Amino acid sequence: MLGEKIEDALNSQLNAELYSAYLYLAMNAYFESIDLGGFANWMRIQAQEELSHGMKIHDYIIQRGGRVILEEIEKPQTEWESPLDVFEHVYAHEQKVTGLINDLVNLSIEEKDHATNNFLQWFVEEQVEEEESSSGILNKVKLAGKDASSILMLDNEFGQRMFNPPSSE
Ligand code: FEO
Repeated sequence: MLGEKIEDALNSQLNAELYSAYLYLAMNAYFESIDLGGFANWMRIQAQEELSHGMKIHDYIIQRGGRVILEEIEKPQTEWESPLDVFEHVYAHEQKVTGLINDLVNLSIEEKDHATNNFLQWFVEEQVEEEESSSGILNKVKLAGKDASSILMLDNEFGQRMFNPPSSE
């Protein structure tokens, strides 16, 4: 059985993951609006990943006999200045999510909930990857600058991204 504080915190993280999916879908829509279909594809896949993160938490709450409570999802930003502006936002957002995961891990330690602590380790590792991939892309977009052919090459690369559902380990 989940303690109340952990259950509330997991429900908040579920909401944060769904918000992330919403944010990346908004970025997908922005890229579609400026005809960068490959960048849009990258965001669409990222949104699917965030939804799968949310579902992982959803299923864990149920597995531990808790109650999933769905709250309102905040409206995301809809406009950005440029692809660089978007990826600066992505990197900052992922750093923020890492902070949320760390707070949850700290709470699981305070509450002596070893099962939740163990469950959260997947997210700790995932955030290392999320920060690495978003900062890597941010650097590529910075290097491309305003050079149209470089941006189109990146668009082609990001168009290849496919969704790999996370393992259930
Ligand atoms: Fe669910 Fe991008 O972290």
